[in-house]
Amino acid sequence: MIIEHNWGPHREAYITEQYGKGIICAEIRREDPNTCILHDLFVTPTHQRSGYGRKLMRKALEYATRNGCRYAILFVAPDAEQWVQPWYERLGFEQYAIDDKGRRWVKKNV
Ligand SMILES: CC(C)(COP(=O)(O)OP(=O)(O)OC[C@H]1O[C@@H](n2cnc3c(N)ncnc32)[C@H](O)[C@@H]1OP(=O)(O)O)[C@@H](O)C(=O)NCCC(=O)NCCS
Repeated sequence: MIIEHNWGPHREAYITEQYGKGIICAEIRREDPNTCILHDLFVTPTHQRSGYGRKLMRKALEYATRNGCRYAILFVAPDAEQWVQPWYERLGFEQYAIDDKGRRWVKKNV
């Protein structure tokens, strides 16, 4: 399910699906007309490492493409697990910046 909403100037959407007792969800915000930001990707812990994260990412990127984005960006928090950034890189994201909060920003053409 994709819930679209408009809070302020940034068009936003929330993606959520239920699989048994597990959920996957993510928020999408518009950074600029060409770029969306993916926030808070989440898979219920009992359902992790079963391909749901990849499925969630596919849905988010499909939404971005359908809605005219050329780029998807997101950040990896400084306290994220070691495996998180390589996981995004395997999905085609590349790091392009580190901000003053130590967040590593990654980007992908969609
Ligand atoms: C990040 C997240 C969305 C990935 O979803 P997922 O459904 O587990 O991912 P997938 O099943 O599509 O991919 C699995 C791959 O991710 C990596 N991975 C996932 N969980 C891992 C873990 N606990 N330890 C090491 N690698 C892990 C591995 O490469 C794994 O492949 P493998 O099982 O063949 O080794 C999910 O783990 C999550 O919601 N985590 C909590 C929130 C979070 O950390 N978000 C990222 C913040 S920047």
